[in-house]
Amino acid sequence: MDEENVGSLKQQLSRLFEVSLRATVPDELEVEPLVAACTAKFGDYQCNNAMSLWSRIKGKGTAFKGPPSIGQAIMKNLPPSEMIESCSIAGPGFVNIVLSKKWIAKTIQKMLIDGIGTWSPRLRINRAVVDFSSPNIAKEMHVGHLRSTIIGDALARMLEFSNVEVLRRNHVGDWGTQFGMLIEFLFEKFPNWEDVGEQAIGDLQAFYKSSKKRFDDDPAFKEGAQQAVVRLQRGDAKYRKAWMQICEISRREFDKVYQRLGVHLEEKGESFYNPYIPGVLEALSNQGLIVESEGARVIFIEGKNIPLIVVKSDGGYNYASTDLAALWYRLNEEKAEWMIYVTDVGQQQHFEMVFSAGRCAGWLPAEVNLYPKASHVGFGLVLGEDGKRFRTRSSEVVRLVDLLDEAKNRSKAALIERGKAAEWTDEELEQTAEAVGYGAVKYADLKNNRLTNYTFNFDQMLNDKGNTAVYLLYAHARICSIIRKSGKDMEELKKTGTLLLDHVDERALGLHLLQFAEIVEEACTNLLPNVLCEYLYNLSENFTKFYSNCQVVGSADETSRLLLCEATAIVMRKCFYLLGLVPVYKI
Ligand code: ARG
Repeated sequence: MDEENVGSLKQQLSRLFEVSLRATVPDELEVEPLVAACTAKFGDYQCNNAMSLWSRIKGKGTAFKGPPSIGQAIMKNLPPSEMIESCSIAGPGFVNIVLSKKWIAKTIQKMLIDGIGTWSPRLRINRAVVDFSSPNIAKEMHVGHLRSTIIGDALARMLEFSNVEVLRRNHVGDWGTQFGMLIEFLFEKFPNWEDVGEQAIGDLQAFYKSSKKRFDDDPAFKEGAQQAVVRLQRGDAKYRKAWMQICEISRREFDKVYQRLGVHLEEKGESFYNPYIPGVLEALSNQGLIVESEGARVIFIEGKNIPLIVVKSDGGYNYASTDLAALWYRLNEEKAEWMIYVTDVGQQQHFEMVFSAGRCAGWLPAEVNLYPKASHVGFGLVLGEDGKRFRTRSSEVVRLVDLLDEAKNRSKAALIERGKAAEWTDEELEQTAEAVGYGAVKYADLKNNRLTNYTFNFDQMLNDKGNTAVYLLYAHARICSIIRKSGKDMEELKKTGTLLLDHVDERALGLHLLQFAEIVEEACTNLLPNVLCEYLYNLSENFTKFYSNCQVVGSADETSRLLLCEATAIVMRKCFYLLGLVPVYKI
């Protein structure tokens, strides 16, 4: 690969402007090019450095007379490049760039031959931890965990595509005091638990509820439960075995959801970090960060009015002590450069405090944007039609497996209504129903800015019009059918055909395709999957516009237009992949 053509379109343009800036203002070495795509009619991209440069240099005896003259110089000093068709100056020194249509076409053709992998963005890090999903053992996995699973998986996929090694961590809650209660209840109810264990427990959530009731009602039981925690944490074999059995049942339940969603995770639960806590806390104590407060051991964080409790007054560790140990482990043992935590916004304060403690300890740089970096990816609530937290009619927590079943069943019913049961094999029907049903649930979640609450609505998410997975998956299938119906061998065309972008709508679509890498990069850097959803939806809109104004099959430009269809389908599929959606090839 020749270095010049590496990175996203925006990065390539930025490199050109960088050269120009060094020539225009040789003394201002810190100034980085500010390049952005623009929707103005004067160009495709814009360089916006002139204004801020002017305020930097105006007192320093410069020959420039103001932002416009700086803009002129930036334009004049741009190295010649086949990317650029023309440049112009607008307003107070903005440099507008019109990209060369020939270059756009050539770049797309190159991707058709070398693969979309050559369009992956380059990030500045090598390894990241994405801590997501992370349900609690024996408690229900609720829609909050579903959001974390969907968002976390999309972020992990985007980072992986950007050549980052991702440690996909399921930080399950497997170490709380609730285990004392559960184990004690198991022993009491089923003295022969070792033989009947898993059957005895049956529905773990019901088991949790009854043991909680026992715990609340009987002080003697409560006492026993507290002793059971101590025994478990001391490593008593019998208690450990019971604990493992309980975890295993939960794990099997969680896996059903992951399997359906096609999400891969590696479990390192809270218990994993337990042995690291004493050492980590000791080091923090030695640095003078941990102090005694009302019987507990705490870290005071500047700007926060409550401290971070790391050892409770009863001497036990808590959620925060575990997260400190996990942060330490991820930095020092796993050598991750970016730690990403996906949970509801309710935990924002907790993570802010843990990260601040990490900064005070010198584990993380004081400047939050430098690596190694820790980021909390918060998200809002899933609401029901009544505007309240999403629940079942009997106001129970919605079981995720049921929810996914319903999505699939509804999409299957819609396919049958369209007569697909007669047209397709059972397997095709099943697979499409799953791709569309699960895809709809994922996309409805991902398309919103994650911080906002959203209303869960099957009818809306399964609508085949509007910004939905169904619409997008069908749009892709339609492109595939155009290609199929042409009867052309695309592999052959990729080698022999030439892509032209003469029509405005062809050019607009081509340019949009080329922006894929920078969009993925933006979605990764800002940890916002909705940015990619918006890109995908616009891609589909751009395609529709092209297809309604440019005849493909049977036209004089057939070969070129088929190549454009193929490139669109490839980019769409990559978007689907990154969002965790499975493409559909026919409808
Ligand atoms: N188990 C927690 C919950 O259900 C989420 C854990 C998130 N990860 C972490 N490192 N604290 O709320």
